[in-house]
Amino acid sequence: EAQSKNLKLVFVTGGPGSGKGTQCNKIVEHFGFEHLSAGELLRAEQNSDGEIGKMIKGLINEGKLVPSEMTVKLILNAMSKCSNNKILIDGFPRNDENREVWDRVAGLKPEFIIFITSSEEVMQNRLLSRNEGRDDDNLETIRKRFKLFNEQTLPVIKHYESIAAVQKVNLQNLNIWYTFGFPQLLNLYC
Ligand code: AP5
Repeated sequence: EAQSKNLKLVFVTGGPGSGKGTQCNKIVEHFGFEHLSAGELLRAEQNSDGEIGKMIKGLINEGKLVPSEMTVKLILNAMSKCSNNKILIDGFPRNDENREVWDRVAGLKPEFIIFITSSEEVMQNRLLSRNEGRDDDNLETIRKRFKLFNEQTLPVIKHYESIAAVQKVNLQNLNIWYTFGFPQLLNLYC
């Protein structure tokens, strides 16, 4: 079905507070993509009744990853409801297990990957001062999220560099998203 829809898939990655959600909103506005956030899908699920909701909540608040089978299932379910063939998946993949399960279950290659970077100091300040702060935006959990990003997500981004275009953008001091390369890439590929 994905083939027949001529699917254009873009993964958006970056550390906690790097601005993935913020940039995705702009891409949606200017390029007509649909935005799916792994974190948002999991946060919606954590509010569901029962053990699974409780487990997801516990993992997110500990700054740990939710099992990949569950995350991939939620993403694919959300994708099946998209009428748009251009989809951004924000916060995915985060580790090698995410990638392995995605390749096995979804089998869809991204057109390219947007990798947003910033210093930890800047990202931490953004998270701590975010309006309507989240439960996982406390110093202890933020540090765990950074550690996990450095240890597990960076290697998986490295892996993608060998099989797909990875557009790295530093948005530490600027919010001028359109001066960077990824709008050009979006035009080129999508
Ligand atoms: P997720 O929701 O993806 O959290 P995150 O990666 O920690 O990123 P954030 O959403 O906190 O930040 P962001 O990069 O989107 O920045 P934002 O635009 O909001 O995941 C949460 C949890 O879910 C994970 O820890 C894990 O437990 C689980 N999970 C998620 N994906 C998973 C997966 N694939 N597998 C398993 N588990 C998974 O911006 C942050 C703030 O900064 C905002 O206030 C914004 O206004 C401001 N800001 C943004 N950009 C700028 C800028 N350029 N200048 C100034 N301020 C800016």
